[in-house]
Amino acid sequence: MDFNDKPDRSRSKAYKWERYKGTEILPMWIADTEFRCAEPILAALHQRIDDGLFGYTHPDHDVEAIAAVVAWCHRRYGWQIDPSWLVWTPGIVPAFNVMINAVCQAGDKIIVQTPNYPPILAAPSINKLERLCIGSVLEQGRWTLDFDALEKAAEDPKARLFIMCNPMNPMGSVLKQDELDRIADICRKHDVLLCSDEIHADLILDDVPHLPASAHPKLADHSVTLMAASKTFNIAGLGAAFAIIPNPTLRAAFNLAARGILPWVNVAGLTATHAAFKHCDAWYQQQLAYLKDNRDFLVREINKIDGLKVISPAATFLLWVDASELAVADTQAWCEARGIGPSAGRDFGDKHFFRLNFGCARAYLVDAVNRLQGNKASLTGHNSVDLAEKE
Ligand SMILES: Cc1ncc(COP(=O)(O)O)c(C=O)c1O
Repeated sequence: MDFNDKPDRSRSKAYKWERYKGTEILPMWIADTEFRCAEPILAALHQRIDDGLFGYTHPDHDVEAIAAVVAWCHRRYGWQIDPSWLVWTPGIVPAFNVMINAVCQAGDKIIVQTPNYPPILAAPSINKLERLCIGSVLEQGRWTLDFDALEKAAEDPKARLFIMCNPMNPMGSVLKQDELDRIADICRKHDVLLCSDEIHADLILDDVPHLPASAHPKLADHSVTLMAASKTFNIAGLGAAFAIIPNPTLRAAFNLAARGILPWVNVAGLTATHAAFKHCDAWYQQQLAYLKDNRDFLVREINKIDGLKVISPAATFLLWVDASELAVADTQAWCEARGIGPSAGRDFGDKHFFRLNFGCARAYLVDAVNRLQGNKASLTGHNSVDLAEKE
């Protein structure tokens, strides 16, 4: 696999590229990568297509795919999960919304960290519930949760659920053991359930472990952990994810809330997830090394640009860029005028930032740095897209 490839994604109508179609803006927003799938995934999909049979398939009957998830969790996190804990879902976003329906009642409140992945921020209001925001703090050069704010929010008797994102999107931090311990203590003390979105867990670039929430002894009964192969293996369009729910009562409530709303997971997604977790270790390690080099390059170069500041993310292929020193009214418009299309910080909860996706060929990053330095004079505001209008 050559990660330096720049595949043409127009034929597959990639959302990332469609947004800026017809402009010269380099899309660096939505969180999928520019990398073609690993061969074993493609082979498994080809074989599945060649069957020519796509009738109803209950994911619980795909014991090989379930075994691949169980083995992956054991190999990657030292977490021995029971196959019965697994609930397949067609995505992580529907899963955390189902979790809200499973455990919350009218009048309950949901805690979320900010800045955060926009659908996590939106989930409380979608479900007509109040959101309690807790901020993020910089500690020893690394973003983490504001734990005092978490404690305070959890004290609210109406606080029922904390939807967490670990590793964090957009900041790329990975929670440490003592931090997860603290979250566990707070959630137990105030009887707040935890829904942990761990979609980026397999994209840790530094030498730090990922600690799945539901593997924590104090959280096993008190949480749901959401994972997927989708980010790591670039199969998000196939719509497959899973919830790991050790507590049978919570699992039954989740399944009940999903009934009639969530479809069974797509058979292609199931096949791809199985192949990803079973046969793609070499590709995976190669990708991690490539992403790490990409990150180091981008962090170094962006920190040289006047007005921009970044902290190296321990995980994800996302870079949270602090543009507050630019003192421009619209950071997104500033980027687009330079020919870069990042995710707008305002959508994550901080308009002074923007988020760059570095899951792409290094050549794109060289180009992006050039553009951010203002070296593409021809790329001026005329190509700018009104993102607010398109969201
Ligand atoms: C933290 C986080 N959760 C969930 C998702 C999307 O999950 P899905 O496509 O499985 O609904 C993303 C995608 O960017 C994400 O970053």
